[in-house]
Amino acid sequence: MTEENIIEVREVTKTFGNYLAVDHLSMDVKRGEIVVLLGRTGAGKSTVLNLIMGTTCPNKGEIKVAGFDPYASFKSLKGRLSVSFQTDRLLPWRTAIENVELGLLILGKSKAQAKASAREWLARVRLDGAEDKYIHELSGGMRQRVSLARALAIDPEIVFLDESFSQLDHVTSKTLRSDFLQIAKEFRKTCVLITHRIDDALEMGDRALVLSPPARVALEVRIDDRARSDPRTIADLHDQIASAMGAERPTEH
Ligand SMILES: Nc1ncnc2c1ncn2[C@@H]1O[C@H](COP(=O)(O)OP(=O)(O)OP(=O)(O)O)[C@@H](O)[C@H]1O
Ligand SMILES: [Mg+2]
Repeated sequence: MTEENIIEVREVTKTFGNYLAVDHLSMDVKRGEIVVLLGRTGAGKSTVLNLIMGTTCPNKGEIKVAGFDPYASFKSLKGRLSVSFQTDRLLPWRTAIENVELGLLILGKSKAQAKASAREWLARVRLDGAEDKYIHELSGGMRQRVSLARALAIDPEIVFLDESFSQLDHVTSKTLRSDFLQIAKEFRKTCVLITHRIDDALEMGDRALVLSPPARVALEVRIDDRARSDPRTIADLHDQIASAMGAERPTEH
């Protein structure tokens, strides 16, 4: 494991029964980097995420996250990784602030500390004023913001987002993506983002990996601000990714 790589995946294979879901996958993520995993449905994106988070174990190969085997040393990574999903997975009988506090309380923070951090993080995702609302009183976009605040509040080294912006309308999704990106950069979070939308990847990623089933890297592209500011480069990257994703037309909005 090099000093710089916080995630290393080496020749990993994962099968479910006879089904080969991940085939000799190798990939690295550097500290502070935002890597986007793209691929059409069934490409194995969520399976790769589960392998990196240590919620499932590989059949073959090696994975290291912050120096640990994430499956074998699952508890060592407690509090160092966090995840937000396509659906917000919030607890309906707790308010926004109580949902954000929860992870902090589990990690042993005092009630006062947890409340103060939760309040701070809700403000960072622009939810000040909504702290005491119950989940059913919030819009889908606001719920997703609570979910992001909950993921960030524990100050994890790595944030995983699995299609966190996919269920929102285009405008809500765009503002949330740009808010998240700004926070991720400001706090130098390492992020692994999963999406099937090429535009999201081009907007957010330092690097995008296109997975094709069974999960292996079909294409890797680097994206920097210079590329982002040049419409022709972006259009070219878009075409490369679309063709690596294969025949299925990617959904844009
Ligand atoms: N626990 C499991 N048991 C059996 N098969 C599984 C399991 N998890 C995933 N698979 C299979 O592995 C393949 C990859 O699934 P995965 O959920 O990783 O895809 P994905 O790229 O995240 O797709 P989507 O974009 O639809 O979320 C699929 O064919 C899926 O049916
Ligand atoms: Mg998935």
